[in-house]
Amino acid sequence: MDGLENDDSQFSSFDRRTHTSARTNMQSIKSALLGTYSLVTQIFTPAKQPTGLVPLEGRVAIVTGANIGCGFETARSLAGLGAHVVLACRNSEKGEAAVQAIRSEFPSSQVELQLLDLQSLASIRDFAQAANKKFPKIHLLVNNAGVMVPPFGHTADGFETQFGTNYVGPFYLTLLLLDNIVAAGTPERVARIVNVSSAAYHGGSINFDDLNSEKSYDRLGAYAQSKLANILFSGQLQQLLTARKANVASHALHPGVVNTGLYQHLPQFLQFIERPFANLLFYTAAQGAYSSMYAAASSETEADRGLFYSNCTRTPLDAHATNAATSSALWKATVELIRSKGFQVPAAVASDSSVQ
Ligand SMILES: NC(=O)c1ccc[n+]([C@@H]2O[C@H](COP(=O)([O-])OP(=O)(O)OC[C@H]3O[C@@H](n4cnc5c(N)ncnc54)[C@H](OP(=O)(O)O)[C@@H]3O)[C@@H](O)[C@H]2O)c1
Repeated sequence: MDGLENDDSQFSSFDRRTHTSARTNMQSIKSALLGTYSLVTQIFTPAKQPTGLVPLEGRVAIVTGANIGCGFETARSLAGLGAHVVLACRNSEKGEAAVQAIRSEFPSSQVELQLLDLQSLASIRDFAQAANKKFPKIHLLVNNAGVMVPPFGHTADGFETQFGTNYVGPFYLTLLLLDNIVAAGTPERVARIVNVSSAAYHGGSINFDDLNSEKSYDRLGAYAQSKLANILFSGQLQQLLTARKANVASHALHPGVVNTGLYQHLPQFLQFIERPFANLLFYTAAQGAYSSMYAAASSETEADRGLFYSNCTRTPLDAHATNAATSSALWKATVELIRSKGFQVPAAVASDSSVQ
């Protein structure tokens, strides 16, 4: 895995940095139980296909992590509906292969690759500059890319890998693209930002004392924190957009338990257990894109603002994922973190004070 400092060999210790605290142990157990619960629930609820999908000709969509898994399937479906799709991927070979696969299925589709590494603020800035220049209106942004339970490591800017890749990167990307997303929305047809989170958020908490897990690293806990952060960001962003009367919807979702490469960092013995279950019981990657498509392109969700979806269904959030004080504090802390690395955050969105 790019950008990781350590190999995967000592997962059994669960924490390569320091001792694993009782807090992190509890978080891991909670997250693992919630994951199992999610899967069991899913077994009894077949994947719902997104209904009400509308043509997307003339609309620009950016999908991060679009070379494989749910992201590829989302990009493919958006292209099939006629959108001009930018596959935002970190690896040019894999990204080009995905572009070619979509072109061969939809020969008249408009798809292109733009390199984006969410583990690098410089890459995000460069991507956003190029995208904003090329597309004065960006109608859809699907923040899909993610990593799960890698060994402890840092992004190029020194953020813990999951916190940086899953949360800080998409946060920064979204804010840098926001003017062009706002420019794309109209009262008749909103622009949409879709943040792919996870049911893992249920077990997550924002550890303000140690956002980057420097004191103690719990792989599942850090993943759950990053996925909770996606939701808190999504909700806070919606409040900001609504306060500014922007015709933009910001949503978050759980794609289901999906058979993808996301599980590559599980320890060997867990992968051994996971594989047969994954093949039999997990959603396919195409099914894992259903909720993203519903949030991004269904007429049924046109009037929705700031919602959470699971299995193409509006789903209430736990109270800790809508807490205004946590959302606001996290927003401010994230802006400070980005600025502390020497990167600029647009002044208009640096503070969320307008939504207080
Ligand atoms: N699979 C599940 O059961 C499940 C459950 C809940 C939530 N989710 C969420 O669904 C989303 C999609 O995951 P998936 O299951 O489709 O996993 P996946 O098949 O492993 O795809 C992840 C994608 O993210 C990309 N990515 C990772 N790090 C990146 C970076 N630094 N910069 C740019 N792109 C990066 C990967 O690119 P490379 O190919 O170059 O690595 C890949 O395209 C994730 O946000 C995940 O947290 C998945």
